[in-house]
Amino acid sequence: MAEYSVLMEKEGKIHVVEVTNEMVKHKGLGVLNTADLLAESQIGDEILVGQKYLTVMPSRLPELIAGMARRAQTISPKDAGTFITKLGIGSGDVVLEAGLGSGGLSLHLARVLGNSGHLVTAEPRNEHAKVGLVNLERATECFPEFPKHTHLEGMVEDVVPDLDFDAIILDMPVHSPAIKACAPKLKFGGRIACYAPTTSQLENCWKTCEESGLTVEWAGELMERQWGLTSKGGMRPVNGPFGHTAFLLFAQKR
Ligand SMILES: C[S@@+](CC[C@H](N)C(=O)[O-])C[C@H]1O[C@@H](n2cnc3c(N)ncnc32)[C@H](O)[C@@H]1O
Repeated sequence: MAEYSVLMEKEGKIHVVEVTNEMVKHKGLGVLNTADLLAESQIGDEILVGQKYLTVMPSRLPELIAGMARRAQTISPKDAGTFITKLGIGSGDVVLEAGLGSGGLSLHLARVLGNSGHLVTAEPRNEHAKVGLVNLERATECFPEFPKHTHLEGMVEDVVPDLDFDAIILDMPVHSPAIKACAPKLKFGGRIACYAPTTSQLENCWKTCEESGLTVEWAGELMERQWGLTSKGGMRPVNGPFGHTAFLLFAQKR
């Protein structure tokens, strides 16, 4: 079993490193023997790597997200939190998530499902799945609990397993075939959620959910605006763009 450690630069940049007793190149840190480097260190200690002082941090969800391996665009904590609460996901649930992509949302789901949950992921592109599975492998070692995980290679509409799901989350460019294939696998009272960056995708999700016998409960977008202290005192929104991530849609089987 691999062991991981989280290291934070002074400016807050996070590195998740595998602890191995050999010289290995770590992006942004150089070639290191992390087993030697971290042998005597504890959470909160500062260590010197090259010119950089790094703090050894606990490997909690925000650190694993900040330091995750990335390829496909990931779902942000703002949207992940809403998926979890509006779908009511918690311990013991059986959840289907497609596509896995870089595993950003999967990390949030794994954290709340705990040991008694079951996370099923699907992804047709191996180069994306490889990155997502690296992030989940780190989480299995870093989280105190981790759900049963089943990963399926392929388009979710082709590989959806014969299980009864409490919740299904679909983040992909074309939702309709996936909704049609997945809706029959929802438990009564279970919910499906779609993540759709454009309005045309959102409209297709809404119509396909209704055609599949689901009741749309909520569709919309979540706005996030960060505030900070000003140099002259007081607080105001920080400068920067007011971004769009995607529209979310929730539908229930009744
Ligand atoms: C934006 S990424 C998912 C990101 C992921 N939710 C995260 O938070 O890291 C979309 C992924 O869906 C995959 N995909 C596309 N069509 C799919 C389908 N029909 N079934 C399953 N996955 C699909 C793509 O290959 C891509 O990796």
